[in-house]
Amino acid sequence: MQIPHKKAETLKTRPQSSQLGFGTIFTDHMFNMDYSPDKGWHNPRIEPYAPFVMEPSSMVLHYGQAIFEGLKAYRTADGGVQLFRPQDNLHRFNLSAKRMCIPQFDEAFLLEALIELVRIEKDWVPDGEGTSLYIRPTIIATDPFIGLRASNTYRLFIILSPVGAYYPEGFNPVKIWVTNEYVRAVRGGVGQAKTAGNYAASLYAGQLAHEEGYTQVLWLDGVERKYIEEVGTMNIFFLIGDELITPALNGSILAGVTRDSVISLAKSWGMKVVERQLAIDEVFAAHAQGQLKEVFGSGTAAVISPVGKIKFGSQEIVIGDGAVGSFSARLFHDLMDLQYGKTADPFKWTMKVA
Ligand code: COI
Repeated sequence: MQIPHKKAETLKTRPQSSQLGFGTIFTDHMFNMDYSPDKGWHNPRIEPYAPFVMEPSSMVLHYGQAIFEGLKAYRTADGGVQLFRPQDNLHRFNLSAKRMCIPQFDEAFLLEALIELVRIEKDWVPDGEGTSLYIRPTIIATDPFIGLRASNTYRLFIILSPVGAYYPEGFNPVKIWVTNEYVRAVRGGVGQAKTAGNYAASLYAGQLAHEEGYTQVLWLDGVERKYIEEVGTMNIFFLIGDELITPALNGSILAGVTRDSVISLAKSWGMKVVERQLAIDEVFAAHAQGQLKEVFGSGTAAVISPVGKIKFGSQEIVIGDGAVGSFSARLFHDLMDLQYGKTADPFKWTMKVA
């Protein structure tokens, strides 16, 4: 497939791998495509990364009709580049689109476009330990209209950002703060969709957590305020006794691609993995009985993020000895080895693109 490609006149200086943080640097080119009712998705093109000109009345700015994805391209030892489960991210992108009344796109076509963009920008894929090229497909509503309805026109774009660790803590354990006052999402709402408003909704409690000296919020369900849903922007896992437990997907939890990878990897090691409702009280009780061995978050940006402490009300518990547990460490390393192509991939999750 040939997508029109307008080259950037001057190329940016690429950062050193060792200096990479998260999400501040963008590559030379981006992918754009538009939607209108008469033409459908049309005018796919790769062009220089540049600001958009938008009407102040653009619907996305008022009602938040916006969805996005996050996936990564990794530098392999032979100098090549591979993607990790890109079809799963693009499928979830379409599911989010459906929930937010955004027209469906052709997943196979978008994958081709994404691959072409990554190939053009392959020199931007960093090669340092824990670094990658973060890929951010996004769709925004562009009708200039301030009444409330679904937009008729949309812009789909993909931007690329070379990244290192998401949290300043890197793979060191984070401290999390449980809130039963604020919720991220409710069943029947849009928690399952990767839509901008979910992230905006999480900011205030995140700010309170920071003020208390915690890195992330642990979210409880919106109805009973007792069942665990997610942590920060990640899914969450608990190693209790010999079982790996994660909240079941109930409509208000994002179906994480890393979550699914963790479940598959742990099962392949013969581990018992249970997806079910898990109350915060049960976690504290398991800790009191010495059964709570490890806790960690999973997500594309942070990969595996071990939890060292959990604060709920006036009680704070330390997980294990507060250091990274051996199970989280094994998961982190095995997952990264697969993503970087250092080990064989029996799951067929990786896709070599350059
Ligand atoms: C990701 O983990 O990829 C996300 O989309 C979360 C975002 C806040 C970086």
